Amino acid sequence: MTQQKTILRALAGETLATPPIWMMRQAGRYLPEYKATRAQAGDFLSLCYNSELAAEVTLQPIRRYGFDAAIVFADILLLPQALGADLWFVTGEGPRLSTITTADELAALKPVEAIHDTLNPVYETVKILSRELPQETALIGFAGAPWTVATYMIAGQGTPAQGPAHALKAENRPLFEGIINLLTESTIAYLSRQIDAGAEVIKIFDSWAGSLEGDDFTEFSVKPMARITAALKERHPDVPVIVFARGAGPRFAGMHAATGAACIAIDEGVTAEWAAEHVQKDGCVQGNLASSHMVTGGQTLIDETRRICRAFSKGPHIFNLGHGITPDADPTNVQLMIDTVRSGA
Ligand code: CP3
Repeated sequence: MTQQKTILRALAGETLATPPIWMMRQAGRYLPEYKATRAQAGDFLSLCYNSELAAEVTLQPIRRYGFDAAIVFADILLLPQALGADLWFVTGEGPRLSTITTADELAALKPVEAIHDTLNPVYETVKILSRELPQETALIGFAGAPWTVATYMIAGQGTPAQGPAHALKAENRPLFEGIINLLTESTIAYLSRQIDAGAEVIKIFDSWAGSLEGDDFTEFSVKPMARITAALKERHPDVPVIVFARGAGPRFAGMHAATGAACIAIDEGVTAEWAAEHVQKDGCVQGNLASSHMVTGGQTLIDETRRICRAFSKGPHIFNLGHGITPDADPTNVQLMIDTVRSGA
């Protein structure tokens, strides 16, 4: 019965005449109704941990646009917070965390089982959504990949080239691997609970995978995501996983097999034509419209949307952006993208 949801059909390998659509960061600051609910919650983290309001902002883009999937409103940095790191957001700048750069600091974090005390509101949000979403809309749960989350935990903030995490990897490999292992195991526990609560698809975000070079890419992006995917599959064989190794470039090829994921999300760093030939031949793909078109719109948006649909038309495809929609996007351009995909022209 759930197989009638178009995203689940695409993830199962079906080629659909019209690809299902959702957008990374579809609940976000480009929407006036999001800004209103966020103001009601007080701040971003209060919104994440208020299950009723988090469910509300998750539903807003579904009501406005009728996307084929909803992604639970949360953040990849809630997991380090649940492990005991301090987390706060500086307006206009981004996240800040207490740092983990010594063995003592790693040892002082909480054990995996303790994360649920903090993360229960996220599971509650998932439960509310699985009751309230329209029956044709799939519910996506998510987490950050260990490498990407580790880059924030080590540096204490976003860093352009992930320098501090690369430095720790070079200087203290056992400690770095300890952080990756703890994140891998706690991510499995976190995502399993999201599935128990009603998530039907899982997405793993490795937003900084692109800065890993050579064997490091395999060791610290691909392998942890493969381990998470395998552990979830063992417990929840029917729940497909989407992995997003942003910046992977030619390394997107072969990633279905390397990670065991049902779908590879593709950023805008490769063309849809290349990805159709080298990635989609192995299974479902998602992406890769540049999010800047949500700001600029017009005929270029229509042409690019059509080109991507055409390039991916011979295999399983979920229409999405290459990365998250930005706060300066125009909501009418989102509607134009959806109309273009669904008109099939
Ligand atoms: O996609 C969705 O609609 C679901 C919600 C979601 C958020 N963050 C909400 C959010 C998801 C899936 C994420 C993932 C996330 N968070 C990633 C991976 C995906 C990516 O974008 O590469 C990363 C790296 C983070 C960490 C993070 N959270 C940063 C760096 C920032 C600040 C940058 C910014 O855009 O302001 C956030 C904040 C954040 N997470 C916002 C939202 C809607 C904006 C916060 C606000 O309302 O002020």
